[in-house]
Amino acid sequence: MAALSGASVIVTGCSGEGGGGGNTGLRFANRLRMPPLAESSRDADGAKRFALTLQSGGRSEFLPGKVTRDTWGINGAYLGPTVRAARGERVRMAVTNRLPEASTLHWHGMRLPAEMDGGPHQMIEPGATWTPEWTVDQPAMTSWFHPHPHERTAMHVYRGLAGLFLIDDPRGPRLPSRYGVDDIPVIVQDKKFDGDGTLDTGGVDRGTFGLLGDTILINGGYDPFFTATTELVRFRLLNASNARVYRIGFADDRVYHVVAGDAGLLDRPAAVDRVKISPGERAEIVVRFAPGESVVLNSRGEPAKAANDIEEDDFDLMKIVASARPAAGEPLPAKLGGPGPAAVPPGARVRQFFLTGSEINDRDMDLTRIDDVVPAGAVEIWEIDNVTYAHNFHIHEVAFRILDLDGAPPPPYQAGPKDTVFLPKKAKVRLLVQFGGFVDPVNPYMYHCHLLRHEDKGMMGQFVIVEPGTEDRISRTIPAAHHHG
Ligand code: C2O
Ligand code: CU
Ligand code: CU
Repeated sequence: MAALSGASVIVTGCSGEGGGGGNTGLRFANRLRMPPLAESSRDADGAKRFALTLQSGGRSEFLPGKVTRDTWGINGAYLGPTVRAARGERVRMAVTNRLPEASTLHWHGMRLPAEMDGGPHQMIEPGATWTPEWTVDQPAMTSWFHPHPHERTAMHVYRGLAGLFLIDDPRGPRLPSRYGVDDIPVIVQDKKFDGDGTLDTGGVDRGTFGLLGDTILINGGYDPFFTATTELVRFRLLNASNARVYRIGFADDRVYHVVAGDAGLLDRPAAVDRVKISPGERAEIVVRFAPGESVVLNSRGEPAKAANDIEEDDFDLMKIVASARPAAGEPLPAKLGGPGPAAVPPGARVRQFFLTGSEINDRDMDLTRIDDVVPAGAVEIWEIDNVTYAHNFHIHEVAFRILDLDGAPPPPYQAGPKDTVFLPKKAKVRLLVQFGGFVDPVNPYMYHCHLLRHEDKGMMGQFVIVEPGTEDRISRTIPAAHHHG
């Protein structure tokens, strides 16, 4: 790790290799796009009401001078607004589908009743509006939303349907928190464009990993720069790519701090010079900038190239330009308030999952089959054993801790609450999973690989949360009529 220095470091030009897909020749010509905050209104009972419309036919200018037609977005041409709610608040959603086909909207990272989850059982037909509501009752975090239609998730996300959902907790630690000023969303996606700017979707449903793009968009914008007007900036990194894995850091390899993982704050800031995030994962980082400096945020492939083509390429992501007199920030708190070391309760039930090419425990996803029945409030150990090439593993509704990865404890920045974990090829991970308390023996939650091509191919299972003691009486079959209701 290089020491933090005030020197400005600008890397331009291509620095070689990168497995053919990388792009390190950006000019940083465009101001970073900031997803707007979603508008809301208050219902008489105090609930916060949001209207989200899934729409097609967007015209987006990603590449200079080229119009990309038919991008998809939520309340806009591409991506969605940032939804924000505080812990304890009730939210009431109206999700309208103006797409040419059925879809869903899943609240990734949200603890809520299964019927509100927006998985493949909560399909919204074209023209219809779906109205889930729930009370936000979980720690502050960066969560997100995206469609989850059976076998169609990769295409819907790739075309542009995704957005951030920030959960605030006023009792949390003091961190940079002025949205768009010193609290900055960074939604990372790789795309492929044809020469005329058309979004190339041909590879989305093909190959081992689906589409791997050679062009990076940040918040739906190409070739961005961000002007830092404060010494400390929080970036909320979200990997909303279909398959790519990023190792995010800076061109000068400066040390910065991770303050939160997928599902909430760490115990204390973790010093790093790179964080690895696979599709669906988030990391909140706080970075210090010296007056007037410029530095490039980038992704660097695994040096060992041990893994495979989803984590090999090098990309520049954006340039940060610090203003000449940035506003002084408060120092990072030593304690952030996240949970301490994970403690395994005696007798915790162990479940095992084997990941093969695109199956879990040798089974393909079946919408009518309940794979696992979990008692409400359970804390279980889930052992995920990846016997093939790279995958990751996401569980709806829960927060988990990584107990170990290939027998070793996770790096401190991944030791906090999470909901998605990367498994390099042949890796094995043990998770301590905390389940919630919304019982519903009929409506399942999902667990799956979040490489969207794999998810669509059926690398997904379903679990229900039930009243403790009733596990044996729960039907393992969902009536076929139910799953489009
Ligand atoms: Cu981000 Cu089941 O999904
Ligand atoms: Cu999810
Ligand atoms: Cu996978």
